[in-house]
Amino acid sequence: MSRLPIGIVLNGVTGRMGYRQHLVRSLLAIREEGGLPLADGTRLWPEPILVGRSEIKLAEIAQRHGLTEWTTDLTAALARPDVQIYFDAQVTQQREKAIRAAIEAGKHVYTEKPLAEDTAAAVDLCRAARAAGIKHGVVQDKLFLPGLRKLKRLVDGGFFGRILSVRGEFGYWVFEGDWQTAQRPSWNYRAADGGGIVVDMFPHWHYVLEQIFAPVRSVQATIATHIPARVDEQGLEYEATADDAAYGVFELDGGAIAQINSSWAVRVYRDELVEFQVDGTHGSAVAGLRECRIQHRGSTPKPVWNPDLPATERFRDQWQLVPDNEVYDNGFKVQWEMFLRHVHENAAFPWDFAAGARGVQLAELGLRSAAEGRRIEIPSLEL
Ligand SMILES: NC(=O)c1ccc[n+]([C@@H]2O[C@H](COP(=O)([O-])OP(=O)(O)OC[C@H]3O[C@@H](n4cnc5c(N)ncnc54)[C@H](O)[C@@H]3O)[C@@H](O)[C@H]2O)c1
Repeated sequence: MSRLPIGIVLNGVTGRMGYRQHLVRSLLAIREEGGLPLADGTRLWPEPILVGRSEIKLAEIAQRHGLTEWTTDLTAALARPDVQIYFDAQVTQQREKAIRAAIEAGKHVYTEKPLAEDTAAAVDLCRAARAAGIKHGVVQDKLFLPGLRKLKRLVDGGFFGRILSVRGEFGYWVFEGDWQTAQRPSWNYRAADGGGIVVDMFPHWHYVLEQIFAPVRSVQATIATHIPARVDEQGLEYEATADDAAYGVFELDGGAIAQINSSWAVRVYRDELVEFQVDGTHGSAVAGLRECRIQHRGSTPKPVWNPDLPATERFRDQWQLVPDNEVYDNGFKVQWEMFLRHVHENAAFPWDFAAGARGVQLAELGLRSAAEGRRIEIPSLEL
């Protein structure tokens, strides 16, 4: 079987997402499977070109995985004729100018979210990508999680009847960094460095709501910086200037109300780190990263409010587990395979820069809603 190499610049590959999810669990995993099988029988073979700021770190990653191509010179990497795709997993602030350079170099672009720091920049990148005729995409990994795939299947199968509401609970305790090291990078907690949970999570909530339920029509958010000081990777205390919790209400097309709490200052009393409860006239579901449980109207119990007595029912036992019915691969890898097919075979790929720009817009308007203390309608973007 013939093997067709495709050069992919991976920028930000020393970071959490760039290394683990995109290099190791996606592109190298595709290679371990012998490449991506195409319709004509050839196998597309990702050739990663690692790009970053530290020669030592890049060389170490390359050596660990038997790779030979790495550089700290992005311009030179983008000038290579064997490179077809630029991928960006840098800190968000560095993204826009690197993507712009990739578009100017005529490369297809795939990127982590958020696409840019503000809506104007995201819209501009979308226009530039379209004008250059390149293929473009934004990571929307949550859509490919088993739990959310099952939820989508329930929506598509008409399980819920009319959907009334979506309640999302996301978060976990991120250590302050003093007596236990923090499990997230410190830039996440500094507004000036592009941090904040709204900028981080609202783009995810945007595509989850839009693509599983309905487009988002308005946002109302209250944000907080619950932990005002943290300790960074060097052991130095810094002021946390960005929001570490956001309490959002989103009105959807068709009238359903979504309410999503996002927090890095909450302890988990849930089965998974994110869970969505969906209530509809005909049934309800609770979906996490992997599992999804349902309760049909026909098996809905009739609890009676009486705080004088201990609870008589085990409510969690009244739900039924949705079966897998298919094999779920890593969500980042699945989306990479789709983007590679989009580039190479022109296969459909709806998660483009326009979708990414709408996610950035929701974050921006969420922050404005919090600052102004009001509900904000989401205007449609002129793209
Ligand atoms: N899809 C998801 O679920 C998900 C989850 C977490 C983060 N992200 C996104 O991925 C991107 C990277 O996040 P991460 O958590 O991997 O961050 P990280 O701090 O672990 O990695 C950041 C990368 O950017 C590089 N970088 C380039 N210029 C930099 C600069 N001036 N300062 C600091 N680092 C610089 C770093 O070297 C590193 O390779 C962010 O845009 C974030 O929004 C996505």
